[in-house]
Amino acid sequence: MSPITQSTGAPAGTAQVNVAIVGASGYSGEELVRLLLHHPSARLTAVTSRQQAGQTVAQVFPRFASHSLARGLRFSEPNLELLARQARVVFLALPHGVAAEFAVPLLQAGCQVIDLSADFRLRSAAVYREFYAHEHPAPDLLAKAVYGLPEAYRDAIRGASLVASPGCYPTSILLPTLPLLRAGLVQPGRIIANSLSGVSGAGRKAELDYLFVECNESVRPYGVPKHRHLSEIEQELTLAAGRPVVIQFTPHLIPVNRGILTTLCLEPAHPLPGTEAAAFSEQVDACYRAAYGAEPFVRVLEGKALPDTKNVVGTNVLELAWRVDARTGRLLVMSAVDNIVKGASGQAVQAFNILCGFPETAGLL
Ligand SMILES: NC(=O)c1ccc[n+]([C@@H]2O[C@H](COP(=O)([O-])OP(=O)(O)OC[C@H]3O[C@@H](n4cnc5c(N)ncnc54)[C@H](OP(=O)(O)O)[C@@H]3O)[C@@H](O)[C@H]2O)c1
Repeated sequence: MSPITQSTGAPAGTAQVNVAIVGASGYSGEELVRLLLHHPSARLTAVTSRQQAGQTVAQVFPRFASHSLARGLRFSEPNLELLARQARVVFLALPHGVAAEFAVPLLQAGCQVIDLSADFRLRSAAVYREFYAHEHPAPDLLAKAVYGLPEAYRDAIRGASLVASPGCYPTSILLPTLPLLRAGLVQPGRIIANSLSGVSGAGRKAELDYLFVECNESVRPYGVPKHRHLSEIEQELTLAAGRPVVIQFTPHLIPVNRGILTTLCLEPAHPLPGTEAAAFSEQVDACYRAAYGAEPFVRVLEGKALPDTKNVVGTNVLELAWRVDARTGRLLVMSAVDNIVKGASGQAVQAFNILCGFPETAGLL
């Protein structure tokens, strides 16, 4: 099959790009299936799963059964040679470590790769070893990979062959924090982030800690004090601040399917007497307006509104709001995001749109 096919589903005058999803039976894979089945300029040509091989997409995910492609397209065992012939762009929705094993040969075969795992998010193989407890499988590719946070790396994504889609917690922390650090409005050394995440963040695999009875009606912290996502969060904050940044990050598991709510506690760059709180507030407002006023997928809330996961679940939008606490002299920034959409598959499709020169919102509104 040719890597690009003409189709009447695409906007007039444009070709559809053939795409494949490796690991399409997992939570982020399923979300990619949903988005790419309905994408005006993508044609889903292959979906892989070792356990579901032979089943149609509609059999595994009946909610897609009304889509004719879902009734015809079957899951297959991952086969690198075949994938490289079937698709120009391959999405990897695989565990870290496994993803790199697929990325290397697919890139060699000329595919563009959008990896949802942590394998190519870090610039340093030593930091990867420290946080992921094994040697990086393809350290030579780290310099080639582009961190796929569109709001920060749009230009670099445009020419990339390997996009490392950010993690869900990092997305919820970086988008609120990067503009403030770049503008020098907050102290880089005094950042505290507390996040609450739904259980789908752990993936679809069966694991005792994530069984219904273990999670339901209960809330618990985990990954304390050194969650793996700290590696990419601190990498990106360090780049924005221009000096090493170490943060305090505490994730919590909450009994909902999807969604992350993050609260950031930030110290203004210059300590605030109460009288300056209003001026600082105006600076923060101007900073967020400049950074996100034209961004389609970052919603800065106004008035009394505060982020709420129910307003973003199922969408590619991150909501954020902030308050200056004149009593403590701190800035509180809160964000809400769907861990599987803006925190994973939606963001990957946003990067795909940029990579292929499609409107950035294609298939995402
Ligand atoms: N869940 C989230 O909220 C989220 C957010 C951001 C990023 N991510 C990242 O996205 C990636 C996928 O996460 P997920 O939550 O979707 O995982 P998941 O639900 O556990 O799905 C994993 C997928 O990979 C396949 N797979 C597993 N081991 C494989 C192997 N050795 N060879 C080939 N295929 C294999 C599985 O299918 P078979 O076992 O049938 O082959 C399945 O389709 C991870 O790296 C994760 O860190 C997840």
